[in-house]
Amino acid sequence: MKMTRSQLYRRIEQAEPGEIAKLEMQIAVCPWRQSYHIQPVTGLLNDPNGFSYYNGYYHLFYQWFPLGTEHGMKYWYHTRSRNLVDWENIGIAIEPGGRYDSHGAYSGSAVEKDGRLNMIYTGNTRDENWIRHPYQCLAVMDEENVVTKYEQPVIREVPSGYTEHFRDPKVWQRGDAYYCVIGAQRTDKTGCTVLYRSVDLKQWQFLGEINTRYPALGYMWECPDYIELDGQGVLIFSPQGIQAEEDLYQNIYQSGYLMGPPLNLETRAFAHGDFQELDRGFDFYAPQTMLSPDGRRILVAWMGLPDLAYPTDNSGWAHCITIPRQLSIQDNKLIQQPVAEMEQLRREKQGISAKVRLDDECKAVAHFHGITYELECEIQLKGAERIGIEFRASATEKTVIQYNRLQHKLILDRSQSGAALSEANGTIRQCTLKADVIQLRMFVDSSSVELFVNNGQEVFTSRIFPSCDSTDIRFFAYGGRAEFSAVKWDY
Ligand code: FRU
Repeated sequence: MKMTRSQLYRRIEQAEPGEIAKLEMQIAVCPWRQSYHIQPVTGLLNDPNGFSYYNGYYHLFYQWFPLGTEHGMKYWYHTRSRNLVDWENIGIAIEPGGRYDSHGAYSGSAVEKDGRLNMIYTGNTRDENWIRHPYQCLAVMDEENVVTKYEQPVIREVPSGYTEHFRDPKVWQRGDAYYCVIGAQRTDKTGCTVLYRSVDLKQWQFLGEINTRYPALGYMWECPDYIELDGQGVLIFSPQGIQAEEDLYQNIYQSGYLMGPPLNLETRAFAHGDFQELDRGFDFYAPQTMLSPDGRRILVAWMGLPDLAYPTDNSGWAHCITIPRQLSIQDNKLIQQPVAEMEQLRREKQGISAKVRLDDECKAVAHFHGITYELECEIQLKGAERIGIEFRASATEKTVIQYNRLQHKLILDRSQSGAALSEANGTIRQCTLKADVIQLRMFVDSSSVELFVNNGQEVFTSRIFPSCDSTDIRFFAYGGRAEFSAVKWDY
C-alpha cells in the first residue's frame, strides 16, 4: 500500500511500534536477497554517495529510506570495506531533519581534508506549499565514524537562472583548491552542470555552467561527476527526459558521459564528443566514481531506476549497488571492468569446453547450475548465426543473452526471467557489436546480472527476479557451429 506524504517523510524514530520488525520479517523470507551486493537492511536504497578511501577503508554511503520501498525521507547509510568486495554495514551516517535538510539528506560526495572525511550533500527542504528549497550542506566524519553536521549550509542560494532542481554536489581536489559540480535545471527547463570552487570546503564561489554542446539534452541532469583519466576529461551525469532512439535511451532515465580534452576550469569550456550511455542494461542509474589509493578510477551505480515498481517492494526492501568497476578509455569510449578484487569472492570452480552445433538434438544444453556465481565464457562463432547463454533457467523461466551475427546485435532478454517488472519499458535491451569471438563475463547474484562483454566494451546491468529453482545455465547455437569454453566460480 502506498504511503501518504506524512508517512513518507517520517524519520526512523517515528516508525510505528513493530513497523521495522515487520519489514525485517518480510525480508528474512525474500528469495531475492542478494549475496554479494550492497543492499539495504530495510526499505529503499538509491544513489551511491560519498564513495571514497579514508582511514584505511573504502567508504560507500547510499541514499536510504528505512521505512518503505518508496522514495521518502532520505538518509545517508554508511558501509565500508578493506577490499571493495566484503562490505560492513556501519549504520546511519547523515540524518536528515534539520533546518536545512528537513526533507532528506540527498546525494553528494566525500573528500578527505585535515584527517577527516568531508561529505558535501544536498539538504532537501520543502516549505508549507511543498515548494522545494535545496541547500548544499557539509558533514564531517572522524576516524571513529562519528559524523558532525556543519550548522549552516555551505551553498545557500540557487544562482539565478536555475530552478529548485539543483543538487548532488561532487567534489574533487586540484592543488590547493576544491572544485565541485552540481546537477541543475535551467529556468527554461533544460538540464546542465554548474561548477563551484572553494579553498576550505565552506566558502564556495559560483563559477558558472560547464559549457557543453548540449543546450537541451533532457530537463534535468542528476548526479554529475567530473573525472580526468588517461589525459581525457569525462563528465558523467544522469540526464532525465531523453527520448528513446533505436537501441539507445530505452530506460526511463539515462546515465552517460561526455569525453574530451580536460575541462578548462577557468573558462569552463569543454570540447567533448557525443553523449554516450554507460550501460546497456535495464537497471543502472546515478553512478559515482572514486580514485583508489593505487590510482584506479572506480565506478559504482545504483542498480535500479527512479519511479518504477520492483518485485521486492512487497518484501520490505528495494534495490542494490552494482559491483565496483574499474574505468579505462579505449577509442574515446569508457571501458568498465570488474575490479580485480572480485576474484577474492571465487569459491568452487568448474570448467567446460563444448562444441555446440545446430544439428545437436538439444540446442540448449544445461552445462552448469547456479544462483550466485561468476561465469566467464568465450564463444567462437564458426558459422553459427545466433549463439548465447540461457541462465537462471528452468522449464518455465530463463534470462537470455544472445548474439545475432547477421544483425550484429547483442541482446539481453528478460521477458521470461521470472517476476515481471517495468514491462512497459520493454523486455529486451540490445546494442550493436561486430565480432567473431564473444567474451562474456557474467556476475550473477540472487536477483541480478552484470554482464561485461569483450573486456568491458559493453556492459549490461540488470535486475532479474527468477524463482529459486531456476538454476540452469545452458549454451546454445543456431544456424551453424560455435565453440564455447567456459569457467564458472560459485560466489
Ligand atoms: C537521483 C536522485 C538525486 C537526489 C537523490 C534523492 O536518483 O534523485 O538527484 O539527490 O536521488 O534520493
